[in-house]
Amino acid sequence: MSRLVVISNRLADPRKPAAGGLAVALGEALNQTGGLWFGWSGTVVEGGTPGEGELHTRQAGPVTLATVDLCREDHDAYYQGYSNSVLWPVFHYRLDLADFNASYVAGYRRVNQMFARKLLPLLREDDTIWVHDYHLIPLAAELRAMGCRQRIGFFLHIPMPPPLIMAAIPQHEWLMRSLFAYDLVGLQSEADVSHFTRYVRNEGSAEEVGAQRLRAFGGTVQVQAFPIGIDVDEFTRLTQAPDAVETCENMRDEYSRRRLLLGIDRLDYSKGIPHRVRAYRELLDRYPENRNSATMIMIASPSRDDVHAYADLRHELEGLCGSVNGDYGELDWMPVRYIHRTVARKRVPGLCRAAAVGLVTPLRDGMNLVAKEYVVAQDPEDPGVLVLSRFAGAAEQLKEALLVNPYDTQGTADSIQQALQMPLAERQARHGKLMARIREYDVHWWRKAFLQALQEAGD
Ligand code: G6P
Repeated sequence: MSRLVVISNRLADPRKPAAGGLAVALGEALNQTGGLWFGWSGTVVEGGTPGEGELHTRQAGPVTLATVDLCREDHDAYYQGYSNSVLWPVFHYRLDLADFNASYVAGYRRVNQMFARKLLPLLREDDTIWVHDYHLIPLAAELRAMGCRQRIGFFLHIPMPPPLIMAAIPQHEWLMRSLFAYDLVGLQSEADVSHFTRYVRNEGSAEEVGAQRLRAFGGTVQVQAFPIGIDVDEFTRLTQAPDAVETCENMRDEYSRRRLLLGIDRLDYSKGIPHRVRAYRELLDRYPENRNSATMIMIASPSRDDVHAYADLRHELEGLCGSVNGDYGELDWMPVRYIHRTVARKRVPGLCRAAAVGLVTPLRDGMNLVAKEYVVAQDPEDPGVLVLSRFAGAAEQLKEALLVNPYDTQGTADSIQQALQMPLAERQARHGKLMARIREYDVHWWRKAFLQALQEAGD
C-alpha cells in the first residue's frame, strides 16, 4: 500500500477528539499507511516576503504534519482574497458578493506554487496524493510542472457551479484546465458532476473517453461524485458521552415547556441564516400557537470576520433577531436565542438531541454535515425532524427529511409547522431511513471509495 499524502489549507491534529469526522477519517487513513499531512500553519507573518514561508514539521504518531507560514500579503491575496472573496462566493452562486480584484489571483498562484515547491522534496516516488478544496485547485498543475508524476486526486468540498456562473470568474478557463492535471476529481453531488461536465463540454470541447472519464484542454480526468459522510460510530459515542448527555438534560430542564428548533452553522452567507429567521417569524405569525412555546436556538460560529460580506451579514442578523425578539418576545419567553460563538464539539450532539426540529437551510452548500449529525444524535424512539434545504448537497441523499426552498419564506414556515406537528410513527419511519443511508455512506465509505477510484484512475 502506498503512503498517503493529504494536502489541505487547514490541518487538524487527527489525534484530538475535537478534530471532527473529516480529520478523524483522514487521520485513520494516514495512520494506516504512515502518512504526511501538508498545509498552511495558520500563522500569518507580518512583513514577510511574498511566496516565501517557513516550513515546520512535527510528528503526530505515525503521521508527519508539515505546515508552512504565510506572509500577510500572501494570506490577504490567497486566503481572504481569491479563495474567500472570489471562489467561495462564486462557487456558492453569489456573484453579487464576489470581489474580482485583479491582484488576488497572483497571490493565489504564488501560494500554490510555494506549497508545491515546499512539498516536492517531502514526496516519495510511490506516494498517493490527495488535495482538498478550493484553495488548492492549481496545486497539481504546479506539482506536475515541477516533475511530479505520482497519482494525484482532488476533492472539492464546496459546490461546483453551473457553467455560466463559473464563467463570471475572469480566470475560469485556467482554473478548470488546472483540474485536468489531476487523475481524479471528486465532487459532492451528481448535480456538481453535471455542472462540471457541461462546462468542459461547452468551453473545452470535452469528449467522453470511458465511464466518467473526460478528455479536454489536452488532458484526461476522471470525475465522480463522492458525497462526504460523517463518522457515525464516533458521533454516536459523542452523543452518549457525559458532556452531551448533560447538555441535553440541561436544555430540557431550561426549556421544559418549550419545543426547540436548532440551527448550528458557521456565520456564512451561504447558510441562509437571515432567511431562516424570516421563516421563523412567519411561523409565529401564521401559527400563533407556537408563540411562547417554540424557541429557536441559532448558533452561528464566527468565521472569516475580515471579509466584508461576513461583517455585513453579522449586522443584518443582529437586527433581524432583535426585531423578532422585540415584536414577539414575552417577559418569560425569548423567541430567538442567537449565539455568535463556537460551541464545544462535545456539546453539539446534546443540543441536537434536545431539539424537536433541526433547521439546516442553506441557500447553497456542498454537502452540510450538520444535517447528518442532527439525525445521528436523535433518540430513535422519539426522534426530532430534520428540515433541510433542497439546495444542500445532502438533499440528494436525505430524501426523508422535510425538504424546503429557503427562499420561500411561507413554504419554509409551513414545513417547520409540519415538523412540529409530525406524529411519532412518521418521525420514526423517516428517521430510520435517514439513519440507514447516513450509516451506509459514512466518512469511511467516502474515503475508501475516493482512494479506490484514485488507485484505478487511468489504469
Ligand atoms: C468550509 C470549507 C473548508 C474550510 C471550512 C472553514 O467547510 O469547505 O475548506 O476549512 O469551511 O473555513 P475556514 O475559512 O475557517 O478554513
